[in-house]
Amino acid sequence: MAILLPGGAGYIGSHTAVELLNSGKDIVIIDNFSNSKPEVLESIKKITGKDFKFYEIDYLDKEKLEKVFEENKIEAVLNFAGFKAVGESVQKPLEYYHNNISGCLVLLETMKKYGVKKFIFSSSATVYGDPEIIPITEECKTGGTTNPYGTTKLFIEQILKDLYKSDNTWDICILRYFNPVGAHESGLIGEEPKGIPNNLMPYVARVAAGILPELSVFGNDYNTPDGTGVRDYIHVVDLAKGHVLALDKLDKEGKGLFIYNLGTGVGYSVLDMVKAFEKATGKEVKYKIAPRRAGDIATCYADPKKAKEELGWTAEKTLEDMCKDSWNYIVKNS
Ligand code: UFG
Repeated sequence: MAILLPGGAGYIGSHTAVELLNSGKDIVIIDNFSNSKPEVLESIKKITGKDFKFYEIDYLDKEKLEKVFEENKIEAVLNFAGFKAVGESVQKPLEYYHNNISGCLVLLETMKKYGVKKFIFSSSATVYGDPEIIPITEECKTGGTTNPYGTTKLFIEQILKDLYKSDNTWDICILRYFNPVGAHESGLIGEEPKGIPNNLMPYVARVAAGILPELSVFGNDYNTPDGTGVRDYIHVVDLAKGHVLALDKLDKEGKGLFIYNLGTGVGYSVLDMVKAFEKATGKEVKYKIAPRRAGDIATCYADPKKAKEELGWTAEKTLEDMCKDSWNYIVKNS
């Protein structure tokens, strides 16, 4: 029996593939390399010393996807095949709705056809919109997303809730990621954003490396301790481990639709991140204060209590680990 990972060559998918293989699971990866590279597959094998099956296909291609289910005994699916760039989603809403929502529907229909009913979905803290209370619990109201990317996450969550209502033999886990950063400590896999990064950490790393001249800090007049935006940054390896524990829960207890925040519960400001990166790497990060970025909120961090109690999961890596591992990856790969 194997776990299917659509998008398993991507940033979160590849780190989760490593943790699944390390925990003794068999995996099958499908990816069309739209936002990843084939070399990642070799890196996963090198890190784990384990082999796995791979298919270069688009998860929207129903015929080819069905072949994967015919050729392998799939027991569960972890979907990492979503597009994830907030800014790009505003420019290309149809592409985002098509890839993220239609793709997920094709996947769920195929799972249903082959009697595979264990599904873990990569959602995001973005579904909380501008949160009512901080720290954010899973019971907080969702909605009010400010871009098509976030709306695809919200819609898919709704689709999964409706699916479960119609047939409670599905076992579904929705994981709401906060801000994933860092890379595997080997420096073999990490985040590879296309073009100029939108997210803070890859941008900061490129300024420190001299690839980009300076960071624009988007707003210093928020209602936060130093005026800059506060987020819950979580090491990608901790996040990946959360998936293994979520799968364990579905395997052992099953029968339900579960939702968990995956965050550290600690918020850091943009300037905290700049200072931490400088300290961990010994490199200067030049920055200037710029206007606020449209759609940004002041503060967003998780209450991770539910994941601790029900999955036995807590983030273990420190902010220093996040900075060091991001830096190590960029040094080894540029
Ligand atoms: N920021 C800057 N300068 C930059 C980039 C970011 O000041 O060049 C600031 C932002 O204004 C924000 C913080 O750094 O205050 C974090 O920004 P990111 O773009 O790294 O992350 P976001 O919190 O905006 O978004 C991330 C993911 C989304 C996800 C969301 C969940 O990119 O996919 O977290 O809350 F939906």
